[in-house]
Amino acid sequence: MIVRSAILNVMMNAARKAARGLVRDFGEVENLQVSLKGPSDFVSSADLKTEKVLRQELQKARPGFGFLMEEGGEVGGDDKSHRWIIDPIDGTTNFLHGIPHFAISVGLERDGEIIAGIIYEPVHDEMFHAEKGAGAYLNERRLRVSARRKMDEAIFATGIPFKGRPGHAQFLGDVAAVMANCAGIRRFGSAALDLAYVAAGRYEGYWEEGIRPWDIAAGIVMVREAGGYVTDLDGKSDMLAKGEVVAANDHLQRPLLALLRGARDALAAKDARA
Ligand code: IPD
Ligand code: CA
Repeated sequence: MIVRSAILNVMMNAARKAARGLVRDFGEVENLQVSLKGPSDFVSSADLKTEKVLRQELQKARPGFGFLMEEGGEVGGDDKSHRWIIDPIDGTTNFLHGIPHFAISVGLERDGEIIAGIIYEPVHDEMFHAEKGAGAYLNERRLRVSARRKMDEAIFATGIPFKGRPGHAQFLGDVAAVMANCAGIRRFGSAALDLAYVAAGRYEGYWEEGIRPWDIAAGIVMVREAGGYVTDLDGKSDMLAKGEVVAANDHLQRPLLALLRGARDALAAKDARA
């Protein structure tokens, strides 16, 4: 039995409580798929309800902390050092389509640094949790990033921009560079779970651009505590501000970063010639 800090228990209990309604709603979405109205409105209300439960529970336990929430935005607290960063459903498109791959993500920031995070995938009851200096876990099991050292044996996850999002040409360049060197690329549709899976060693790395703080806050501490590296595209730690993330095990994060930077330089050179 592992001993967890009080704050992690607060975060995990809040997520489990919020997940009860979410799982019920997911069952309902599967029925709504075939209805004429479609499930979209229903999903946004599931998002709001989940966020409300998380906020209530976290506020009850730590009344002064601020919030940054996907739905509710920024809400300041009396305690200026601490802020919860919340995504009530990461993987909303999967949820909407009845695909059981989505998660609740809660990160805790102290003075600009993420110090704890939970990512809860309720369909398979996978609770990923991590606290700075105390390791990363999946339920009761300690996590460690994968040990693969060779690019051509590695698989990577990413996020694909879609209609209305910028960065299509850049993304195609990134994929061309990475796919030519690795064993496979995946697009699962939840950034939070992508980072949790890197921490769990299920794949070697993950990168994405145009991402929001609530997608990645909890995942950053998860990967780091599992022995992996997470940076922005410049190899620095401005992931939340820049909305970009490159995460991988300790052997492959730099090589992945180098491929992505090469793709960027190639696109910039092409644009300069045009
Ligand atoms: C999205 C997911 C997806 C990523 C998108 C995010 P949402 O979050 O994390 O994997 O590619 O960039 O916006 O909309 O499902 O909360
Ligand atoms: Ca999200």
